[in-house]
Amino acid sequence: MNAARMPRPGRAAEMMIETTPYPRASVGDVIIEVHAAAFTPGELDWEPTYVDRAGRDRSPAIPARDVSGVVVELGFGTNPSDLRVGDRVFGMIDRYRDGAAAEYVAVEARDLALVPDGVEHTQAAALPMSGLTAWQALMVHGGLTAGQRVVIHGAGGAVGQLAVQIARNAGAEVIGTGRAHDRKLVVDCGATTFLDLAEQPLAALNGTADLVFDMIGGEILAQSTALVAPGGTLVSIAAPPATQPPAGRAVYFIVEPNRTQLIELARSLAAGEITLPAPVLYPLTDAPQAFKDKENGVPGKFVLRNENAQSRAASQPR
Ligand SMILES: NC(=O)c1ccc[n+]([C@@H]2O[C@H](COP(=O)([O-])OP(=O)(O)OC[C@H]3O[C@@H](n4cnc5c(N)ncnc54)[C@H](OP(=O)(O)O)[C@@H]3O)[C@@H](O)[C@H]2O)c1
Repeated sequence: MNAARMPRPGRAAEMMIETTPYPRASVGDVIIEVHAAAFTPGELDWEPTYVDRAGRDRSPAIPARDVSGVVVELGFGTNPSDLRVGDRVFGMIDRYRDGAAAEYVAVEARDLALVPDGVEHTQAAALPMSGLTAWQALMVHGGLTAGQRVVIHGAGGAVGQLAVQIARNAGAEVIGTGRAHDRKLVVDCGATTFLDLAEQPLAALNGTADLVFDMIGGEILAQSTALVAPGGTLVSIAAPPATQPPAGRAVYFIVEPNRTQLIELARSLAAGEITLPAPVLYPLTDAPQAFKDKENGVPGKFVLRNENAQSRAASQPR
């Protein structure tokens, strides 16, 4: 099969499209014919992209953590009453194994959910990592409840747009931050206010946020501890916060696959409670160019489409 592979940690310029062996299903895995895959900025630098859970080198590595496709094989130990050959599924692949920038991928069945009827693979692939990250930041690590005020840094990005919508749906007051060009987008997602980080001082929000969700890091993260109200929380996915808020707590986390949360995100998407921006589409064979464009700051959620995908969803009702 064809796959995009990185020979070692580095820049996208080193990525190649290569002929690689068809994946093997380990216990509890299914094999998916990839219809669409998505990636996140920075994943080519992550150590787990190139090693297994024991730290053993598994390069050359296939990137792209998000997948949407059709189940073509059930591995030993999978429950056929759970997933079946022919199911349309999507999910986030564990970081310590090969990703979805390939024609086929082996994924743990427990990390997958059914793609809702009417949702395209190219839409579904854009949801798992961004949606799970936003959900876990707000609901799991941030403990967000209705009526609270949340500040979301980088609100116009892939994670940010979903975070704004999830927080709004939870009944929170949302202040989105970022660059001026994202103001309308962020307000349309449900933010009450937008703060242009280049023009407006963050200090105006000092001590007022029940929850701050940072995905920018650096100086913005450093300033964010002061925003947290007494009893509040700073959640970062960019870097571990260097200091704790004076009367709150600060958390850094790495997103984990979670089927229950994925099912809730799929339900919200199908119900129109959350929407995804139109993905920036590339053929799978142009994966190296897509990663290069992302490195060069081209905005949007990039989705790779496998134009050779053959499998159709099974027609039997579930
Ligand atoms: N820890 C984890 O588990 C985890 C999970 C997912 C993602 N991440 C990380 O979280 C970050 C966000 O992911 P994403 O997929 O949402 O990326 P993205 O789509 O590129 O979004 C990032 C957003 O932040 C804005 N931004 C970045 N730097 C800024 C600055 N200095 N001032 C104002 N706005 C700024 C960007 O604006 P422009 O586009 O205009 O620059 C963009 O709107 C990435 O670094 C990713 O690697 C971590």
